[in-house]
Parts: sequence; C-alpha cells; structure tokens
Amino acid sequence: MEVRNDRLFLGGVAARELISEFKSPLYVYEEDTIRKRAEEFKNAIYYENKEIKYACKANTNIEIMKILKEEGIGIDAVSPGEVYAALKAGYTPDQILFTANNVLWEEIEYAVSRDLMVNLDSMSHLKLFGKKYPGKDLCIRINPNVGAGHHDHVITAGPESKFGILYSKVAEIKKIAGEFGLRIKGIHQHIGSGILEPEMFIKAMDVLLDVAGNFEDLDFIDFGGGIGVPYRENEQRIDMEILGKKIADEFNRFCASYGRPLKLVIEPGRYIVAESGFLLATVISVKEGERHRFVGIDTGFHHLMRPAMYGSYHNIIHADNNDGVRKPQIIAGNLCESGDTFTRDDNGIVDRNLPIFNEGDIVCICNAGAYGYSMASQYNSRPRPAEVVVKDGKTRIIRKRETVEDIFRSC
Ligand code: LLP
Repeated sequence: MEVRNDRLFLGGVAARELISEFKSPLYVYEEDTIRKRAEEFKNAIYYENKEIKYACKANTNIEIMKILKEEGIGIDAVSPGEVYAALKAGYTPDQILFTANNVLWEEIEYAVSRDLMVNLDSMSHLKLFGKKYPGKDLCIRINPNVGAGHHDHVITAGPESKFGILYSKVAEIKKIAGEFGLRIKGIHQHIGSGILEPEMFIKAMDVLLDVAGNFEDLDFIDFGGGIGVPYRENEQRIDMEILGKKIADEFNRFCASYGRPLKLVIEPGRYIVAESGFLLATVISVKEGERHRFVGIDTGFHHLMRPAMYGSYHNIIHADNNDGVRKPQIIAGNLCESGDTFTRDDNGIVDRNLPIFNEGDIVCICNAGAYGYSMASQYNSRPRPAEVVVKDGKTRIIRKRETVEDIFRSC
C-alpha cells in the first residue's frame, strides 16, 4: 500500500482504477505482503523441525491458499468446507490438521476417510474415536487454562472457554487412549486471537509443555495461532524475531528433557493475511446530522463484520485525497441496522478524524485480509464482493462478485 501524490495504490495499481475495472465494493489483496509475512513468520521460528500451518479460517480464498502452499506453509482446517478448500488448493492430506470443536461425528469420519490427522477436543469424541478406530494416531486439543485475545469473543482457552480438554485431565485421556491402543502423536492448544502480549503465548506454551511431558508417543506439539497485528497506528508490532527465538528456546529445552526432538507446529491466521487485504467501497451519500457527519458507503458489516462484532478498529484511507485536511466523520454501511458503522467501538459509534469524504469518493478499509471475506454474509440479501490480487501493477481476479441469483440458487 502506498500513497503517491495523494492517491492510493495497492500493489502498484491505483485504487480508483481497481474500482472502475472491478466495480465497488471490492476486496483487494497484495500478494507481496502475504509472502512477506509468511517468510517473516517462518524465519522467526529458529527451530529446524517446524511446520507453520495457516489457520485458513482467516481467509479461505483458494488462490491465497495456493500462494501459502508455494511458501511451504501447511493448513489448519476446522470444517469439511475448509478441508475441501485446502484440497482444492493442492494440499495433500499430510499437510492438513483437522481441528474439530463441537463438530458432527460424521465430520470426523470424513476427515479420517481423507487421511487427515484429527485433533480431538472432547472426551466423548475421544471415546468414540477409540471404539471406531482402535490403534489409530491422533492429536488432542488441550485447554491450558491460560487465554488471551483482543476481545472476549476470541479468547479460546481458560475457564470460560468451550475449547479443548482441560489440562488437568491427563490421566483420563491416557486411560481412554490406553484402552483402545490409540497413539497420541500430537498435543495442541490455541489460546486466542489477536494477541499482542507475547508473554501470554509463552505462559500457555509452558503449560502445554508440562502436559506434553506425560505423553510418550508424541511426534509434534502444536501451540496454535493468535499472534496479533497492529490495527491502530500507535499499536506496537510484536517482534517476531524475539518471540520466535523464545519459542524455539522453550521448545529445545523441553525436547532435551523429553529425550528426543519433536516437531514444533504453529498456526497463524491473522498474522499471515490481515495486512495484505483492503476493502474498497464507494461513498453513496453524505449526511450532516445533528451531532455527526455520516458518510454512507456501499458495503457494511455483511462484508466486514469485525467493527460491528468486536468494536474493532480498522484504519481508513481516502483513495484520492490525503492532503491533510481532516474532519470528524462516521463511516456508515448500507445495512438496515444502526450498528452498521466502521468507525465504532464496543459501545457504539465513534467519530474519526478523516480526510473529507464526498459522494463518489472511494474509501479504503485496511487490515481486512483476515476474517473479512471469510466472515462475510449475504445479510439484507446483498451479494458478496469480488476479490482480486494485486502485484507489481498487475491485477488478477480470484473470486467473482456474487449476484442476487447466486444467493437464491438453492431455494
Ligand atoms: N488455530 C485455531 C484452532 C483457531 O481457532 C484459530 C482462530 C487460529 C489457529 C488462528 O488464530 P489467529 O492467528 O488468526 O489469531 N474472527 C476473529 C478471530 C477468530 C479466531 C478464531 N480462531 C477476529 O476477526 O478477530
């Protein structure tokens, strides 16, 4: 992303050109940023026998998954749909981990039938798994009782969390596994998302390593994802070099006491794709209200749910006018709900000082590459936008814009 002579360019292409060619609203991804973050992550973990598995829930566009495959990154999938996307992107079963939470038993059977490593997160599924597949390899998701994340909704470990088997239930897990000759090859956790305090990651890691010491057959330990990225200008980026080194040091120490080197797995989603993505939209109407200037655009929380769902902050840029004159404005969506605003926090709308937006202008919502399109819906029966990748001044479409007919195709 670059602002040149006041104009916004993504991957070397002017935002306005992208909108004239592909229409509005539009998801745009910079390929170089995806590759850069993937490389950075791989290089930061100073441990040879490692696997970075992309948590594809962040963005399941198959072309993006193909880019990550080229980068040597595997997949964490949480549904048959995500497995389908990974296989379609060319991944082989050994590169995919199926992490199941409250999934149908048939979905686990599907994953086993596709030869995937299954990561179970309940005692009842563990028992069923043992009965159906005695002697088989599997992974177990642990709740280490340490959680973290940018919002309550995304903390996925700790006493309030529905995920994993509590870390103190080791004896029970081993008993069931022993009864059916199951081989616990992996131990997994994922403590939450959008973590900007590396200490929490390390703290949870230590709990999992304590748990792991009880299992003799391990091949790998998976510490989940959750590494945050800065959304606000003043937010500090996690120093991946420092964190990566800490992770490797802790892991090396553990392997020495375990007696053999294991594979280290980490599952970033957001870190890899968030900053590559932009949602471009067009200003449809501007209203001077009693308290606020409302800039109405042709997208809403159906296309980017994060502000409405978590009060998340996304940086907003004007595509053609960044000359410094700013005014407090509310950027509002086109859905029939007053919560449909992009400038807000958990409690409601918040004015943001932005370049002055007028009708016909293009708004660029940044950091939309993770949990943007993948959480999009067709609410208000509005089709989802097209997606394009930009690189070196060239554009390629990676998903067509939906039509109203697409929405009602299966009715
Ligand atoms: N592994 C598992 C098992 C997960 O459930 C998740 C995310 C990840 C890895 C990747 O987490 P990440 O590195 O992306 O933080 N919709 C929310 C985020 C929900 C994340 C859910 N699980 C948001 O927009 O902030």
